[in-house]
Amino acid sequence: ADGNPRARIMIVGEAPGPEEDRSGLPFVGPSGKLLDAMLSWVGLDRTSVYISNVLFWRPPGNRTPTASEAALCLPFVERHIALVAPDYLLLVGGSSAKTLLALSDGVLRLRGRWFSYQSADLPRPIPTLVTLHPAYLLRQPAQKRLAWRDLLAFRQAIETGADPTVGG
Ligand code: URA
Repeated sequence: ADGNPRARIMIVGEAPGPEEDRSGLPFVGPSGKLLDAMLSWVGLDRTSVYISNVLFWRPPGNRTPTASEAALCLPFVERHIALVAPDYLLLVGGSSAKTLLALSDGVLRLRGRWFSYQSADLPRPIPTLVTLHPAYLLRQPAQKRLAWRDLLAFRQAIETGADPTVGG
């Protein structure tokens, strides 16, 4: 993990890439640079967020983690989230959204939507927003406008302390 373990916001990505494997820190390679830029769009940085991944090892060839690899790490990720107990979760990319929310839709269907993340260790559910992964945005820069929209919605929720998963 990286960032501030006392932050109100926790971000969960997919898995380490080569730079992350070498340094032992999440999001320090090219997609990490873009993640930092995305956070800065809405006034956030690594002092105000805590960052981890759903998988702790780089899958061979940097491929997408399989469902069974993700399932293996899930109890540790759930415990990690429960220990940090953030007020908001931001799930970047399909792997983290599908794993933590137990959903099968593609990320383009899930992004921009609020969900309630719950696990046995948590006293109450955590409002959770899904957005696009920066590695995807590096390949599809035109989609940054969707991520921008998601982050503005995220910013609005954290500024007002709202739980967008409750009520109308
Ligand atoms: N991509 C991720 O999802 N996590 C990292 O830590 C680096 C790249």
